[in-house]
Amino acid sequence: MCGIIGFTGYLDAKNVLLDGLTALEYRGYDSAGIAFFHKNSIQTIKTTGKVSSLRDKVTSSSEFTSTCGIGHTRWATHGGVSDTNSHPHTFGRVTLIHNGIIENYHDLELELAALGKHPVSQTDTEIAAMLLDSLYEGDAVAAIKKAIKRLEGAYAFCILFADEPEVIYCLRNGSPLVACQTKEGSVIASDMVALIRYSKDYFVLPEMHIARLTKDNITVTDLDDVIINPKMLHVNWDMTAARKGGYPHFMLKEIHEQPESIRSTIAPRIKNKRLPDFSADEIPDQVFDHIHRIVIVACGTAMHAGLVGKVMMEKLLRIPVTVEIASEFRYQDPIIDTNTLLITISQSGETADTLAALRLANEHQSKTLSIVNVKGSSIARESDYVLYTHAGPEIAVASTKAYTAQLSCLYLIAYHFALIKGTITENDCVKQIEELQAVIPAIEKTLTLADEINKICLNLSEKEDLFFIGRGLDYALSCEGSIKLKEISYIHSEAYAAGELKHGTLSLVTEGIPVIALATQSNVYNKMISNIREVRAREALVILITNGESDVDSSIYDYHITLPKLSDTMAPFTTAVVLQLLAYYTSVHRGLNVDQPRNLAKSVTVE
Ligand code: M6R
Repeated sequence: MCGIIGFTGYLDAKNVLLDGLTALEYRGYDSAGIAFFHKNSIQTIKTTGKVSSLRDKVTSSSEFTSTCGIGHTRWATHGGVSDTNSHPHTFGRVTLIHNGIIENYHDLELELAALGKHPVSQTDTEIAAMLLDSLYEGDAVAAIKKAIKRLEGAYAFCILFADEPEVIYCLRNGSPLVACQTKEGSVIASDMVALIRYSKDYFVLPEMHIARLTKDNITVTDLDDVIINPKMLHVNWDMTAARKGGYPHFMLKEIHEQPESIRSTIAPRIKNKRLPDFSADEIPDQVFDHIHRIVIVACGTAMHAGLVGKVMMEKLLRIPVTVEIASEFRYQDPIIDTNTLLITISQSGETADTLAALRLANEHQSKTLSIVNVKGSSIARESDYVLYTHAGPEIAVASTKAYTAQLSCLYLIAYHFALIKGTITENDCVKQIEELQAVIPAIEKTLTLADEINKICLNLSEKEDLFFIGRGLDYALSCEGSIKLKEISYIHSEAYAAGELKHGTLSLVTEGIPVIALATQSNVYNKMISNIREVRAREALVILITNGESDVDSSIYDYHITLPKLSDTMAPFTTAVVLQLLAYYTSVHRGLNVDQPRNLAKSVTVE
């Protein structure tokens, strides 16, 4: 979604802003713009399309110099994609950029119209600029505080006031902002990827606090004007992690990073290489006391990780586990209480619906545990407990390494909780942990199948519809395979529990329709083979995936991908890698923008 960068300091602000916006491109956007002080007046340059087009426009305006400015990539919500609707927006003495949505913008617009003030764009953001300008009497903080009382919705703002050069004011409610202070100046952004070239140490601007950035200082105050010192955080990755590192796309790089990201996620949580240990995460065993039910809430791929987690947890814990789509859960009057453990899963830690579900659970006083990749993100901060996935920054919109890192955390939770509950023995747990560790070399081996998978994708890339089928854990993986393919190849696909096909969908299976059949689970293997025969009888093009060698009748498939043999419960890891590669190469063969698919955003901070 939209990206924010702000800088005031001792560097060329235009370059800082453009570099920041380039780093934020992965979030998904349709226009970009910057505003900066030039000789004490504010200049704005914006355009639809890519940051590179903005860079060209800025370069051709080389008469401007600046050391303070704000920049934005816009993902349209209110009003179409146009130069006018792009940020920054200026009204009177106020110029601002905004992430989020002002829900009551229409009411405010009517009020402002009564004062004879009219916007030129169709955006909610310009209304916020107009509101601030109407409240501004020379004291920026006072105007911001008055505006807060009027604004409804989620927002992060960076604001320039024309009569206060070289200063940026920032405020957030719901949408993230992170900041750092270096000898080169003060920098603020919507995520760490844009700050990393300046510092690995940063802080999250607390909600409903105002930050005032000057060249040498960032002051954060609460709404009573009390100065606070936000907690400093540190990331252990650097600029190289946010670059492609020789890969043609971030997605391919991130697929290949999975052995390392799983290792980094599980290693610190395995005591003496044997048993799960969450003490470094400050998760006491008592968290699991009196838990009668687990509810996993997430969106998209993170929700699909939850589907795998459910199978593992129910199997090991023998308590009910439900997986809920966050955007549905929050409006369902859910049955959760103090004996419920609510697990939220989110790469970004900022997904609006997942965050809202978490808040609801907190209201119900359920215990909340989140599995999050981004340190200090809203979901992490608002959960009782956090297990961070140590996947490093995930830049491609399609989630890959975050998914397998999420699975690793879910498996560790299942083992740890089962040990505490006494539903598995220590010996069994040690064995399972060994199996989990064996996933790492197995993924390395799976990655060597890339060429074979690439060839299959040449065929798939010409199709317009296909199916993923599987049973048990393979059904959960089918859901993930399907979303991955859809989002980056734009091929319509559906995931089906293989036994369900004949209850309606089989009518769509005709000659040449690809069916990606996952048959990694031994307890349903024979049933799965029967289901494959059903689609084969309708002349489907079958791509079979098995866990290790199989003596399956070769007449039932066109392609057979053999995964390195793992225990059934570990097969999701290697299967996921194959499905990611299938989606990746299909998208490449179709000549699409793999890392930034159309209409999608990396971090979905609006409902
Ligand atoms: O940041 P989150 O993990 O909360 O994001 C959830 C989904 O938006 C995300 O997984 C999405 O489905 C991916 N782009 C799929 O690859």
